[in-house]
Amino acid sequence: MSRTDFTYVESVSPGSGRRDPRAAMASDAAALSLDGEWRFNLAAGLHDTTEGFENPGFDTESWATLAVPSMWQMHDLDGDAPYGKPQYTNTYYPFPVDPPRVPDANPTGEYRRTFTLPADWPATGRTVLRFEGVDSAFAVWVNGVLLGDGKGSRLPTEFDATEHLSAGENTVAVRVHQWSAASYLEDQDMWWLSGIFRPVALVHRPENGIEDVFAHADYDHATGLGSLRVETAAGARVTVPELGIDVAAGETASVPVEPWTAETPRLYDAVVATATERVNLRIGFRTVTIEDGLLKVNGRRILLRGVNRHEWDPDTGRTLSVETMRRDLEIMKRHNVNAVRTSHYPPDRRFLDLCDEIGVWVIDECDLETHGFVHHEWRQNPSGEPMWRDAYLDRMARMVERDKNHASVIIWSLGNESHTGDNLAAMSQWAKQRDPGRPIHYEGDWDSGYVDMYSRMYADTAETDLIGQQAEGRTKDPALDEHRRNIPFVLCEYAHAMGNGPGGLTEYQRLFEQYERCQGGFIWEWIDHGVCRRTEDGREWFAYGGDFDEPLHDGNFVIDGLVFPNREPSPGLVEFKKVIEPVRITVQPGSRAIGVTNLRDFADTGDLAFTWAVEDEGQSVAEGELEVRGIAAGESAVIAFPAAVAALARPDGERWLTVRAVLAKDEPWAEAGHEIAWGQARLGTASTPAPSGDTAPVAEGDGYRLGNAAFDALGRLTAIGGLEIEGPRLDLWRAPVDNDLLGWASQLAPKWKDRNAGLDRLEHKVLGIESTADCLTVSTRVGAGGAEIAMGAVYRWRLDGARLWLTVEVNPEGEWDFPLPRLGVRASVPKALDQVEWFGGGPGEAYADTRAAARVGRFQSTVAGMQTPYVFPQENGSRIDVRWASLTGGGKSLKVFGAPEFAFTARPWTSEQLEAANHTYDLVAGDRVHLNLDAGLQGMGSAACGPGVLPQHRLLPEATAFTLGFEVTE
Ligand code: GAL
Repeated sequence: MSRTDFTYVESVSPGSGRRDPRAAMASDAAALSLDGEWRFNLAAGLHDTTEGFENPGFDTESWATLAVPSMWQMHDLDGDAPYGKPQYTNTYYPFPVDPPRVPDANPTGEYRRTFTLPADWPATGRTVLRFEGVDSAFAVWVNGVLLGDGKGSRLPTEFDATEHLSAGENTVAVRVHQWSAASYLEDQDMWWLSGIFRPVALVHRPENGIEDVFAHADYDHATGLGSLRVETAAGARVTVPELGIDVAAGETASVPVEPWTAETPRLYDAVVATATERVNLRIGFRTVTIEDGLLKVNGRRILLRGVNRHEWDPDTGRTLSVETMRRDLEIMKRHNVNAVRTSHYPPDRRFLDLCDEIGVWVIDECDLETHGFVHHEWRQNPSGEPMWRDAYLDRMARMVERDKNHASVIIWSLGNESHTGDNLAAMSQWAKQRDPGRPIHYEGDWDSGYVDMYSRMYADTAETDLIGQQAEGRTKDPALDEHRRNIPFVLCEYAHAMGNGPGGLTEYQRLFEQYERCQGGFIWEWIDHGVCRRTEDGREWFAYGGDFDEPLHDGNFVIDGLVFPNREPSPGLVEFKKVIEPVRITVQPGSRAIGVTNLRDFADTGDLAFTWAVEDEGQSVAEGELEVRGIAAGESAVIAFPAAVAALARPDGERWLTVRAVLAKDEPWAEAGHEIAWGQARLGTASTPAPSGDTAPVAEGDGYRLGNAAFDALGRLTAIGGLEIEGPRLDLWRAPVDNDLLGWASQLAPKWKDRNAGLDRLEHKVLGIESTADCLTVSTRVGAGGAEIAMGAVYRWRLDGARLWLTVEVNPEGEWDFPLPRLGVRASVPKALDQVEWFGGGPGEAYADTRAAARVGRFQSTVAGMQTPYVFPQENGSRIDVRWASLTGGGKSLKVFGAPEFAFTARPWTSEQLEAANHTYDLVAGDRVHLNLDAGLQGMGSAACGPGVLPQHRLLPEATAFTLGFEVTE
């Protein structure tokens, strides 16, 4: 053991030697970034640290260097991972639970660098060393003198270095510990990663400068007046040139303003100045209240269309560039997202600057989660232990003080999943007194005694409906019932976006729009936390829990975002965009009208242009602009079909009218023409093709022939029009999605694979083959080894001209007491047929409960292009409501017809290969294109963490029949 004093590591104290927390500010005071390469050494634990490394005389020349900011486990993971590897756990602490003690194996980074104090660095005032984020505990020296220590990984810490700096070169040393007492407060569901992961700077504090600023910028919606009062250094002046404001600190100025909202993020540049310092602020005037049981901004109820955002970059972990932060917000805004919960810690402060500028509502959440104690009945949970009180209050204060000037931040959240206790109540009390202008959120106490909104995660739609009616069950503590029943409701997490899904978004949104009290929610979560890796041959893939040989991990539960790790939108985000669209367009062919409802809370539709397009079977007939006068927030309009559209209305066929709302001009987050909302309807009635036969089957060789279709001895189709084809035959299987595999209550995948079901290993037994005048009938029984239950499947083949019709009649035999993954047929054709075109739902995948974003049209793709690259491979890529689909290549084209529709999947691998794959690199295209042509598929739900598939989206086994047509052309 070294002689160094390490007591701070396991101390519950939030730190020592630190300065008081204050607002993040854009000041003209001198500053020197200390980001860049630092000397770095990683010790295995406190016993292994380098005695005296903080002394300028200590020679670190032989040490490696490490970038600051960065997370040390994210380095060279495809190489020799010199600084350890990431570890993922959801709720479990990865070390023995013995608070506040942590393991001896405690990777400890020793950082050193020198810097030259600029010659013009002010001689008066103070000089402060500011760390924006260090995970998880650290001690700091300047020129060998200890300044103090700190904890609170995602919160800033400042130390006064004035007395220890000298002109010219200085040495700064930082020792960072992966584990500390604070780790017990930071058990968020994410990778355990360490280091100085946010910027570090030396900042000057001028004498008589602006130590702190608290700008109270309210908006009175009744008068249209904004009022500004800035609490700051005595004697400071506050000016807002654009508004003609020039007042002293503490004085209130009231002037007419344009308010700030997430829809209209109007900011005014303000300057707060003393003789020695000038701070630039961007002021948004808005007032947040809880009134009439509702969360209101500027006097109006708002609806949160939100996401939970972790900070994640697949290459750098929780170190993010400003470009990445901006990219997140751009993608959000482009997908109609209007709110972010900063789960579960305050983000890099620059992200909030962007939120103010781009316009989203923010729940700023404190860096606090003690979830691991749930496994021990919450014994020793810090939330209720007095010794942790200071640490809790310190965290809250550091968040509130840093972020208090952001217009976008409308709610403070105490943290996540830390059960309940007096320390949480104390945080709330402190924040309310410090900042009466923002309500308090916390989900972990359902009695809601010390919060201003009732918050839940993953409540199902039935319960949400009751809450909407104020008819939910009573609180545990009866005294709190009245309070909770009369506060607004938010789902701080819902619709777990793990893998394929989430399903059922539409049903939630309906409730949010139906009940005023239900003010929306936040999807769990924004991004898959996959770690970017490369195979030896250079193919990119994303790692999840267990991929780094962690002894304890939670697998791919960390892959549950609306965007893939590389920020490509997943189908779930596309679906969410449609479900939450802020303008609802309904095409009403009966009345020849178009309904437009503005679902925004503040802005009218003046920023949008409306267009219409008429298509026949997906091919353009005519298009034009639709005149829609500005519709105020919350209002609707009904617009008669323009004459040109009315003239095209016709009684039958696949003629569709689509109306779109697009941005009329460029916005900071999207260019003019970007689509915000759409609606469509068929102008006529489509007729369902009726299968008929004009050709008699004949026996040929061992098998049969029906015109140009050949069948083998077991009545299986082998070729059509000279194209070799395998199948189609009944298929009930899909590679289980996360929501089939995991679940709170009962999981479906094990039922499907049960010995008495075996849907993944069905055998096909021919019971009889019969030829009649116009039909070849093949009767079969489809069941699995060991299973008694089975599906009777009768295939009826008819040929009508060039089109081969297949009707499949299915009949469950025995007790089928679970929904089916899918019901349809599978077939395969040579891989040359890789060009795909279809008319039906698209362009992306869609399932029973994820189909809002599928519009009817004609789409082209390739077999490869139809795959959704879920990080953990699973069922994907099915297109819904397909009237016909064609596969072309190698001089042949196979066209499949629905009667009227089918769900269409084409893959370069089988469902079995998809199921066997653990990573995208496991999927290798074979020499066949595998087709699934389905009458139905089970919905997705979000059972991996939350409710399963709603009854109306379940695929129940029942006697049914479906028909498909096949045509091959050269
Ligand atoms: C919630 C938790 C999140 C995340 C999610 C599951 O309970 O607050 O952090 O773990 O479940 O992905």
